Amino acid sequence: MNSDADERVTRRRFLRAGAGAAAAGVAATGTAAAQEGEGGPTVVTVAPGGSLAFDPETAYVQPGGTVRWEWASGGHNVVPTSIPEEASWEGHEPLEDSGFTYEHTFEVEGTYEYVCTPHAGAGMKGTIEVTENPPEQTGYQSILPDSAKTLGVAATGSMVSVLGLTYLFMRYGGDYEGDFEA
Ligand code: CU
Repeated sequence: MNSDADERVTRRRFLRAGAGAAAAGVAATGTAAAQEGEGGPTVVTVAPGGSLAFDPETAYVQPGGTVRWEWASGGHNVVPTSIPEEASWEGHEPLEDSGFTYEHTFEVEGTYEYVCTPHAGAGMKGTIEVTENPPEQTGYQSILPDSAKTLGVAATGSMVSVLGLTYLFMRYGGDYEGDFEA
């Protein structure tokens, strides 16, 4: 009995050490992926839940940043009504259905206003603010240097990894112990 119990503890320690090493490896991979993803498009959902709205109504992007409109229902378009003088932006005038996406990269700083033409009268309009200092970055993220953000991403990644590994070890580690007791 005693030796069985000892052996089980040893196995558990071994498994735990393995989980830690694996989690560290997965976390490193996650960090690299997150860094590549930085500067990904800002998403505006077109008419979520059948509403006649763009969500968010005002989206912020830095110069050179991309906005991606994702249609959540049909019969809508994206047509500029007011853009900065030096800018050019055609929008996407054809009416599209749910699942369609349209992207535009904004280079010139300023305010870009647009509507969905069939529903402009119902207030279906949006604004893109192209600015070096989007207000999102005056929140908690802006007071952290980039390295701290990366650490935060790594921590999140490793938490997810540990959860995943916990599941695996509960499943397969559990079977292993069962063999010992049988
Ligand atoms: Cu519309």
